Amino acid sequence: MPSFPPHLKRFSSSTTLAGQLALHLEGHLRRWLTQGAGDKGPRPLGLATGRTMEPVYAALVSRLRLWNEADLKRLRSLWCSFNLDEYVGLLPDHQGSYRHYMRERLGDPLQLPVEALQLPDGSAHDTAAAARSYAAALQRRGGVGLQLLGLGSNGHVGFNEPPSDRDRSCHAVTLSPSTRLQNAVMFGGDPAAVPERAITLGLAEILAAEEIHLVVTGPAKAAILARLLRLEGPDPSLPASWLLDHPNVCLWGDAASLA
Ligand code: GLP
Repeated sequence: MPSFPPHLKRFSSSTTLAGQLALHLEGHLRRWLTQGAGDKGPRPLGLATGRTMEPVYAALVSRLRLWNEADLKRLRSLWCSFNLDEYVGLLPDHQGSYRHYMRERLGDPLQLPVEALQLPDGSAHDTAAAARSYAAALQRRGGVGLQLLGLGSNGHVGFNEPPSDRDRSCHAVTLSPSTRLQNAVMFGGDPAAVPERAITLGLAEILAAEEIHLVVTGPAKAAILARLLRLEGPDPSLPASWLLDHPNVCLWGDAASLA
């Protein structure tokens, strides 16, 4: 009997999954509006990129576009999200950058203020300083409220490549050949065109989130997901397994990934 995760949501298809997750996200954002901002505002959303999230953001945009203009205006004024990671060495408007991804899929369709969607500064010369300042900015906002995570085919979350420490904070990382291969599709199919380095939130920031939603879809993730579900405790060689240490994790899987 697998000990992970405490909450498993299984769907027949990635489309159904995306619709239900968008519904959950919409409910979370509704509470931003009704609960009031407090001193620091609501705790930020922690956002992920990658192909897994594309249908989720599309479904969320469709739902939020049904809100009345006053609520949307208020949502725009409250919006605060911190992405997990960004490539090093790409200009922000590079098609493969995660900043570009977020603007195209969420920022522009919802007319969110550009500065409300935060990502690590991958164009910074001093990547260690950029990582420190990103972690500090997130800390000033109280840490992540709701965290979305995808799963790398080598078990990474964000760009926390195996082996990963639980206590590691935001840092610059050298990407593994398998990760560059996995993400080559965003770079014309050429793994060599994928940047060699990235800045990522660490497991320390991820595990400090109030609630975590790990989203895994498609047959290509079935093997790594099966390995994750067989574990009974965290294993640094599978970074996502540190989620076993978190009290409020939900795994969203489709039939193909959970096969
Ligand atoms: C990428 C990103 C993650 C993403 C994960 C899964 O490398 N760093 O943020 O969630 O790996 O990617 P995909 O959804 O494309 O499979």
